[in-house]
Amino acid sequence: MLAQSKQTVSRSPRDEDKRPQHIAVIMDGNGRWARQRGLPRVAGHRRGVEAVKKMVGDCGERNIPYLTLFAFSSENWNRPSTEVKLLIELLYSTLENELLKMHEHAIRLRVIGDLGRFPKRLQKKIADAEALTKDNTALNVTIAINYGGRWDMTQACQSIAKEVERGTVQADAVDAELIENHLATSDLPEPDLFIRTGGEKRISNFLLWQLAYTELFFTDVYWPDFDGDCLDQALDYFAGRERRFGQTSEQVTGVA
Ligand code: IPE
Ligand code: IPE
Ligand code: MG
Repeated sequence: MLAQSKQTVSRSPRDEDKRPQHIAVIMDGNGRWARQRGLPRVAGHRRGVEAVKKMVGDCGERNIPYLTLFAFSSENWNRPSTEVKLLIELLYSTLENELLKMHEHAIRLRVIGDLGRFPKRLQKKIADAEALTKDNTALNVTIAINYGGRWDMTQACQSIAKEVERGTVQADAVDAELIENHLATSDLPEPDLFIRTGGEKRISNFLLWQLAYTELFFTDVYWPDFDGDCLDQALDYFAGRERRFGQTSEQVTGVA
């Protein structure tokens, strides 16, 4: 047989229908990447920014519409103040240097987290970046800073409680959908694929509610070394999962 017709060629696991719409990433291992090379932790964070830029491009190339990146957790304030300062500086300079390029590539940027604790000039930069890119539709990039899943649920509860207090919402009307609508991620679909680099197998207070049915992929690769091949490994892993959402395999596949 010389050639197969297109219809009979088996489909690659990275076919569109097996591709996650939303990938959420805990970018971990910058410090260990640096230590392994005898460099200061800051060098790892700088290389981490390069890996972020690469990841955004790689997701764009693979038609992944939503990418959410954990850049600074509620608990990261507990690090030495010099490192915290440097991370804030890096956030600011990355926004400054990359924003126009992102806008040219029709990337919409959102930032989630409790932003009030950051310097005013960073808050302004974030507001300007979100306003500039709000109509872009090619790729939705969300950066989580001073974000914690517990914070997110707490602020959602507070805001619902205020509505109940005002009488605009009945207590009995509080359901999963209403809670979701009050989370910082209310504009985003639920993550399909979660990736954590750096070898740890924990959620570290990331998207606690939103990850309820997300496929979890852990890799030992340190974040600065994460590249397109690593992403493809994660996508292949995802493509091999059967998402049952509580149903049986027979129900999902339609095969008795
Ligand atoms: C992730 O890398 C970046 C942030 C948490 C800001 P780490 O800085 O946690 O790197 P390790 O875990 O110490 O190697
Ligand atoms: C999680 O990494 C937070 C971010 C990547 C921003 P950490 O390095 O802070 O997590 P733990 O402390 O090891 O759980
Ligand atoms: Mg870490």
